[in-house]
Amino acid sequence: RQTQLQTRFDERIDADQKIEPQDWMPEAYRKTLVRQISQHAHSEIIGMQPEGNWISRAPSLKRKAILLAKVQDEGGHGLYLYSAAETLGTSREQMLDSLHTGRAKYSSIFNYPTLTWADVGVIGWLVDGAAIMNQIPLCRCSYGPYARAMIRVCKEESFHQRQGYESLLAQMKGTPAQRDMVQDAVNRWWWPVLAMFGPPDADSPNSAQGMRWGIKRVSNDELRQKFVDATVPQARVLGVMLPDPDLKWNEERQQHDYGAIDWDEFWATVNGNGPCNKERLGTRVKAHMEGQWVRDAALAHAAKQKARQLK
Ligand code: ACO
Repeated sequence: RQTQLQTRFDERIDADQKIEPQDWMPEAYRKTLVRQISQHAHSEIIGMQPEGNWISRAPSLKRKAILLAKVQDEGGHGLYLYSAAETLGTSREQMLDSLHTGRAKYSSIFNYPTLTWADVGVIGWLVDGAAIMNQIPLCRCSYGPYARAMIRVCKEESFHQRQGYESLLAQMKGTPAQRDMVQDAVNRWWWPVLAMFGPPDADSPNSAQGMRWGIKRVSNDELRQKFVDATVPQARVLGVMLPDPDLKWNEERQQHDYGAIDWDEFWATVNGNGPCNKERLGTRVKAHMEGQWVRDAALAHAAKQKARQLK
């Protein structure tokens, strides 16, 4: 019977059909999805911090309202994704516990500091731009709840990307000091953003199986290349330099060549030793502890409602 179930599952994957929560699935498929979706959820939640730092210092009411909405969207994406992962049988408490005890991964990119207001625009333009590049193919992922969650998430990410770019365009029309501030932010974020797509295909342990299962549709290196090719003309319009002397158009490949990424820095950051890892995790754990009374109150309210209904 196990073999029959496996055959049926393989056929559905090959026919590009969606797998739903109630369907039989191999344990390794379930485990991979929980790993990826929970890491993704954690990234959204931790990702609220670098920009959240600037809500109280946004330069105008308009920018503040936009930033508030955006950070709130990221929180919503996290909740969506935790719900998608819960359909695979792992509780939210388990996932949060893994994050809070430092066992779970989240995106390397959110361990870098936001030093100036220009960083907020650059996160929208480059970080959210990279996130969309990675997440559009996930709308076609084989697991139904994850694929459907990604559709809405991508629409919102697209707005995030545009607001970042528009904010930078305004700053580039400002004073020389503002333009320098944008260039400095681009210099600091460019390389960590390229690393965000994950290790090179040859060093990516999960890629082959992820591709076979239709979870991953486009490889880390292909997405990175597409991102570079899409971003170069945007940088030109904005009037900033991308900090890579080796970045140039390759006529033969019809793509850009780019310089070497510092993978030691990437792994150090993934493994907890990036510039802000301790601060990010500390802030998250503190917020969770301070929110205990809200969870207690919600549970007490639900119990009271239930008791009333039973009367
Ligand atoms: N930051 C932290 N860890 C990373 C990163 C990164 N940028 N890139 C890869 N890794 C980790 C992987 O999670 C994996 O760790 P694990 O095996 O312990 O789980 C390890 O490095 C090896 O990488 P891969 O074999 O390439 O792993 P995978 O096939 O899962 O690909 C990727 C990684 C591309 C990030 C994939 O998991 C994915 O598409 N995730 C969904 C999107 C996502 O999480 N985006 C988060 C940032 S976007 C945002 O929140 C705005």
